[in-house]
Amino acid sequence: MAGMSRIPRLGVLGSGSGSNCQSIYEAIQSGELKAQIVVVMSDIPDAYILDRARSWGVPAEVIDCHGYKSKFPDEAQAAVAARLKEYDVDLVCLAGFMRLVKAPLLQAFPKRIVNIHPSLLPNFPGLHAWEQAVNAGAAESGCTVHYVDDGMDTGPILGQAKVPVLPDDTAATLHARIQVEEHKRYPAMIDKVLRELSV
Ligand code: GRF
Repeated sequence: MAGMSRIPRLGVLGSGSGSNCQSIYEAIQSGELKAQIVVVMSDIPDAYILDRARSWGVPAEVIDCHGYKSKFPDEAQAAVAARLKEYDVDLVCLAGFMRLVKAPLLQAFPKRIVNIHPSLLPNFPGLHAWEQAVNAGAAESGCTVHYVDDGMDTGPILGQAKVPVLPDDTAATLHARIQVEEHKRYPAMIDKVLRELSV
């Protein structure tokens, strides 16, 4: 990364709707986040996150996972790493990306991959964290932004935001409340990471 001399370049990886990617894009548009999204990549060819990227004029690329449903094979990770390098990405932001990132990608971007997870980690890692919180009868939940390591939602925590779990919450209503916080916190945390990177 070239210090403060250029606008930091983000690569976003997602598998779904991309509302967090949208919040990053909007924070950039409003000047809150000094960065640019230079590529959005998805393992799901028809994921809405790719449509969003296209609507912004941002390159939208499909990750070839060689037919595996949930595995992220090493060759695919190496190919993604190479592609992100071609785009000269400074920071990789996972935004609803549903495959586990491992060595080929981690080694290409050490301490330069971040993720947002919909719980107060280390509580409720993994899938459907909002549903886990409701089922466990938790009094509060929230979201966590963290660096990515080779575990499942285990990397060093950058920041968290809490939301209450209300007595009549369903998984869907809790997730919606968590997402409101995600959309505020993720761009702010990315800004913080970029500032630290450029010191
Ligand atoms: C978010 O809740 C995020 O925390 C989790 O997956 C969801 C993605 O939502 N990792 P979206 O695709 O950003 O709308």
